[in-house]
Amino acid sequence: MSSITISPGARLEGECHVPGDKSISHRAALLGAIAEGTTEIENFLFGADCLSTLRCLKSLGVAIEQDGGRVRITGKGLAGLEEPDDVLDAGNSGTTMRLLLGILAGQEFLTVITGDNSLRGRPMGRVIKPLLQMGARIWGRESGLKAPLAVMGRAQLEPLVYRLPVPSAQVKSALLLAGLYARGETTVQQPVPCRDHTERMMAAFGASLRVDPDCTVHVSGDNPLRGQWVKVPGDISAAAFLVVAATLLPGSDILIRDVGINPTRTGVLEVLQRMGADITVSSERSTGGEPVADLRVRSARLRGVEIGGALIPQLIDEIPIIAVAATAAEGVTVITDAAELRVKETDRIEAVACELRKLGADLDTRPDGLSICGGKPLKGAAVSSWNDHRLAMSLAVAGLASAAGDTMVGDAGCIDVSFPGFAGLLASLGARVELDDDSSFSGQHLQIVLE
Ligand code: S3P
Repeated sequence: MSSITISPGARLEGECHVPGDKSISHRAALLGAIAEGTTEIENFLFGADCLSTLRCLKSLGVAIEQDGGRVRITGKGLAGLEEPDDVLDAGNSGTTMRLLLGILAGQEFLTVITGDNSLRGRPMGRVIKPLLQMGARIWGRESGLKAPLAVMGRAQLEPLVYRLPVPSAQVKSALLLAGLYARGETTVQQPVPCRDHTERMMAAFGASLRVDPDCTVHVSGDNPLRGQWVKVPGDISAAAFLVVAATLLPGSDILIRDVGINPTRTGVLEVLQRMGADITVSSERSTGGEPVADLRVRSARLRGVEIGGALIPQLIDEIPIIAVAATAAEGVTVITDAAELRVKETDRIEAVACELRKLGADLDTRPDGLSICGGKPLKGAAVSSWNDHRLAMSLAVAGLASAAGDTMVGDAGCIDVSFPGFAGLLASLGARVELDDDSSFSGQHLQIVLE
């Protein structure tokens, strides 16, 4: 596995784009597969997770082509997928496995799906239990709660009224997708609103769907979807690493163009601005039902804040990089209500605390978050990614912001899960970053997946 070495002392300057949004790329591919007609996806994220989705769809009989930076999917319609002749592999991707379960619940054939070590340890009961109530048959390890999973779907599912026990967009999306196969209306209620890309995109594909003011979503089954042209905005979760890096490195001034600013995802901007970050959001516009803008970030001094409650689902993936920002902030930052971090690609509460301590950070774990005492300069060290892409990139930014000494992030190849080209992009903005081998994904990897 490759590593990445970061030298501190740079400042970031210039303009850039970040790769396409991971959540939106997955959804575009999945909806394109079960729509009628062709779906063209521009700026698709060629990261390992989204390639896992394409690989699974291909095994389900979906024709997928690449045309430059664009992915073209020939939809099979709601009932046109085919029984795969081998086990599907979702790799490291929770979104692939959970959303696909919603679609497989409506297919009258057997599918077995597995994933890597991390994914096989993650909770699937939260999706499986409501899908069983809708009439799907699903078997798995640990009393049916963990992958590998075997799914035997039904052509017609029972509609469900379901209140999410955890604010998970993956669970919500799986149930909305299954709702397309139900006779009648499926309703999903959310304790706190979480990312709504599925609702937006399903409506654009012609699903019969409505959202109440309290974010309860209703979808009616038996309504065909129509293939669409989707332009995927830049991923705010990827941009967050650059935003924090530019904030922490004195003298920095960067412009990140075409970043998705869906309000269910912008918690990181809100929190960083509350901490004192200098972020200007400009040229706000809309692409395919998703708001997009340019972000200008200049370096700034930060102060500690409290982060919790309904904001957490809006920044859940950004907590590792917010923790890095907090190490540089004057005072204490307390993150609560984020126990979900313990069931991400790693236990991100333990992993963040363990690795940032190696760089000299002063922080404590809580059952549901972290308490970070900032303002003490970090010192470069050898750290590990725990094979978690977001931890690897957070540690790289911490290394850039260290007062002295190089930081070596081991097992950094996982960065390709969501941000292929991360190191090169940082270097193009002025950072001193070295890869021990260039494992970046590119469009060519898609060809390999599709062969
Ligand atoms: C995602 C939802 C979130 C997020 C994940 C992507 C999605 O997970 O952490 O990276 O695309 O729906 P949960 O649904 O588990 O909160």
